[in-house]
Amino acid sequence: MYFALPKEYREADVEELKGRIREAKAKLGKRAIILTHHYQRHEVVNLGDAVGDSYGLSKIAASRKDVEYIFFCGVHFMAESADILSEDHQTVFLPNPLAGCPMADMADMADVMEAWNVLEKFGGDKRIMPVSYMNCAASLKAFTGEHGGLICTSSNADAAYRYGFKRREKLFFFPDQHLGYNTGLRFGLEPNEMVIWDFSRTDGGLTEEHLDRARVILWKGHCHVHVNFKADHIEETRRKYPGVKIVVHPECSPEVVQQADANGSTSFIVKYIEDQPPGSAIAVGTEINMIHRMAVTYPDKTIFELSGKTCPACANMYRTTLNDLAYCLENYMDMKPIRVRENVKANARLALQRMLEVH
Ligand code: 13P
Ligand code: SF4
Repeated sequence: MYFALPKEYREADVEELKGRIREAKAKLGKRAIILTHHYQRHEVVNLGDAVGDSYGLSKIAASRKDVEYIFFCGVHFMAESADILSEDHQTVFLPNPLAGCPMADMADMADVMEAWNVLEKFGGDKRIMPVSYMNCAASLKAFTGEHGGLICTSSNADAAYRYGFKRREKLFFFPDQHLGYNTGLRFGLEPNEMVIWDFSRTDGGLTEEHLDRARVILWKGHCHVHVNFKADHIEETRRKYPGVKIVVHPECSPEVVQQADANGSTSFIVKYIEDQPPGSAIAVGTEINMIHRMAVTYPDKTIFELSGKTCPACANMYRTTLNDLAYCLENYMDMKPIRVRENVKANARLALQRMLEVH
């Protein structure tokens, strides 16, 4: 896909852009809402109507039937989910249409179907429930809904496991192996009850014995931002800053999640930071924009990035600028909305609605 802003928007200065955004918002009034994910640039969050994690924002999108336009400052799968949950009179826009999620791209329909064909020999729908992380394409959400499964995010993954295991013996979890594994451990599963389906290998690189024994079959996907955090970073941080609190996102590896003081969705991390007393030192294992925003918001606490070395930026979340937002608000009639095909929507909505019900 090609997308380039007209020169007028590329070259406008920050104050002008802010003014134009405010004016366009005022013109749209109650007809529009701007949703912003926690990883968005600080200045974008400041001009939005709501900030939240992927679960919270989809809940808002599903409940605000009064608005005509949803401007979603986040990444593609989030805007797609908003479109699935919205009604026909509503239109969703992604101000920077190039903002994707590399982890979501690690699971494509053909590969998932190939895996499912093998899993059907182990009982398919009768024994195995697909549970897909919100970070995946709409077509995969539809696959999940069609097979009786549900979507989860970091904020309801425990509830999704409970829902799945109440109804079936095994879960097929994609695309994030780490969230799936971390949730499995919390659910009380043994490491050898979880296997990783490597989509680049025949039969996922697994034997019949592996698949028979497995309670959870995890897709071999990951978030390149969160796998940067290592157990060594935790040891070093605790040595350097005695008494420090460490909070991470569950897309981090199991070693990191287990050694941290707490882990949870982006909204959980915000709340965790808010709840620490003034003077606390808090090392955070997640995306850098959100960490900076927290450091600015809570100057009475020392908030810093856990690795201290890498720059855990999500380039896709960072793509959306004030320039994009100004352009989108002023020219939405000329922009291509995010629209999930009707034949995909019904089953995808089933999977997302189950997610909203089981929290
Ligand atoms: P949350 O659901 O915690 O907002 O996370 C979304 C995400 O993409 C994290 O990398
Ligand atoms: Fe995707 Fe990772 Fe960016 Fe989240 S931080 S949107 S999982 S690439």
